[in-house]
Amino acid sequence: MKKLFFLFLFLPGLMAFGQKPTVQLIPQPVSVKEGKGVFLLTKEATIRYNKADARKVAVDLAEKLSAPTGFPFNVREGKAGTVQMNLLEKADTQLGNEGYILDVTPKSVVISANQPAGLYYGMQSLMQLLPKEIEGKTKTTAKWSVPVVKVVDYPRFGWRGIMLDVSRNFFTKAEVERYIDEISRLKFNTLHWHLTDDNGWRVEIKSLPKLTEVGAWRVKRYGYFGARKPPLPGEPATDGGFYTQDDIREIVKYAQDHFVTIVPEIDVPGHSMAAIASYPELCTTKDTSIKVNPGSSFSEWYGDGTFKMLIDNTLNPSDENVYVFLDKVFTELATLFPNPYIHVGGDECYKGFWEKDPGCQALMKKLNVTDVEKLQGYFMKRVEDILKAKGKKLIAWDEILQGGISPDATVMSWRGIKGGIQAAKMGHYVVMTPTTFAYLDYTQGDPTVDPPIYANLRTRKCYSFEPVPDSVDAKYILGGQGNLWTEQVPILRHAEYMTWPRGWALAEDFWSPKESKNWDNFVTRMENRFDREDVAGVNYARAIYDAIVNTKITDSKMTVTMDSEIPGLDIYYTIDGTMPDSHSPKYNAPFDLPDGPITLRVITYRNGKPIGHLITLNPEQLKTRAQNN
Ligand code: ACM
Repeated sequence: MKKLFFLFLFLPGLMAFGQKPTVQLIPQPVSVKEGKGVFLLTKEATIRYNKADARKVAVDLAEKLSAPTGFPFNVREGKAGTVQMNLLEKADTQLGNEGYILDVTPKSVVISANQPAGLYYGMQSLMQLLPKEIEGKTKTTAKWSVPVVKVVDYPRFGWRGIMLDVSRNFFTKAEVERYIDEISRLKFNTLHWHLTDDNGWRVEIKSLPKLTEVGAWRVKRYGYFGARKPPLPGEPATDGGFYTQDDIREIVKYAQDHFVTIVPEIDVPGHSMAAIASYPELCTTKDTSIKVNPGSSFSEWYGDGTFKMLIDNTLNPSDENVYVFLDKVFTELATLFPNPYIHVGGDECYKGFWEKDPGCQALMKKLNVTDVEKLQGYFMKRVEDILKAKGKKLIAWDEILQGGISPDATVMSWRGIKGGIQAAKMGHYVVMTPTTFAYLDYTQGDPTVDPPIYANLRTRKCYSFEPVPDSVDAKYILGGQGNLWTEQVPILRHAEYMTWPRGWALAEDFWSPKESKNWDNFVTRMENRFDREDVAGVNYARAIYDAIVNTKITDSKMTVTMDSEIPGLDIYYTIDGTMPDSHSPKYNAPFDLPDGPITLRVITYRNGKPIGHLITLNPEQLKTRAQNN
């Protein structure tokens, strides 16, 4: 009895003895006060909004609720809806532009906010409080109850982003919109849209038609991106696509309706092979044989961050025509995207062709610089001047720090957080998106199970991301972002698989109070969300259920260490060539493998049932893993 009392005292409303917690929101709100009872949503419910500006969110809610319930809700202006959306008469400063109060009583649901964005996020929380069947798109039966609760909530950061690369793989307008809808449900408010790269130029620029006539298309290839066959001479380029300016306007409007702002990226001066395939005069080599890259290898990486491009993918900083080109691009782009920021890339720019070019050498002489990095600094400054003339602000990857940056530049820190720290200390605004915590293209489970990538990032690691380093003034950290590069992401369903649940962890990093973060508690909510996404038809990875297997060789003895990302899993393994199950040896401490051509097989169980993928490591893989450790 004492124990039970203890449980109720310390976990109020969270775990009522064997029951699932009633309020399971991602991201975790600032404050949740649970009461007794429920609000029951019936067909008699009325949805009302107090001001015209609240109408759109109220209609959105009605549409979301109508499909699965089959209730034909009417939505009208008014003050006494059983479901009421209110824009506050007097601003609540604590809530800011995106915060909300969600007040559920047995009689009504009231969402209040200063701005429509807050109402929208309150609606997203309300949706998560309804039974999972609410995520369905067709009429079903359920007890549509909402627990009595008062939620007061607002975000920790103003920049809560996800980057989608549509160059390496082209996603259609409908797919991009679906992705925007999905991120907005997690209260992300920024889509960084990587529109150009070596593998495709995706935005129509009317004054430069070849960018999409030529640059949006590559030869069709299958298989591992980066190991594909290069284009053959004369081979037709049939694979790709682009967004017309009408498409862009539609997507921007769709994003605005989901309270997502789009930051377009034109990646220059490197990563520009698609532009150069369209207009070869833009690079120093003026090589007319350059094609849009289909995922074949064209670079060498030396493991220490240095690299060499074997095909020219770099714009020429010493050619005035390049700035005329960029002025055309950014003039049109600026009219399409209302966000003040335009991302101009700046990453992984290879300077080898510049070093050999007389024009670049002459420019360096004129600028009185000896370091070729400074040429990129010059280029970026020219680009920033163009943006400023269009009323736009420059944001770029952290490499721009190497060439010297203007005081107004904003830095996106991706090579760890050190660039972000350096920039913030210089007084620049920063978005933190380090590979180590936020790269959604990395594998999230065992690389013998998940499609292999050169690096790994588990959900738990994403969840441990703290965007504000101790040594910097927090005011310079605008927020954070997860990046989905799509070299190995050929379809939207796999984009979902790579994004979720790591994106849920990042959503919480960027929205929730730092003090409220708790991995075990997040795991419960994550698993609850798995069930909801099954109903919604959204894909996600279940890698959190897989064992983490590591090997180490000391004095020619191989030691195996295993772990699990989430609590409560039992790990079973075999080394005798049989299939493991719950009767196999159970892992409880590191062990040495006997000598011999051994294959290790590992499986996780929970409550006596298999739950993770089978992991099989043959002798070679065991050895490689030890070498990589
Ligand atoms: C990057 O990942 N190249 C920014």
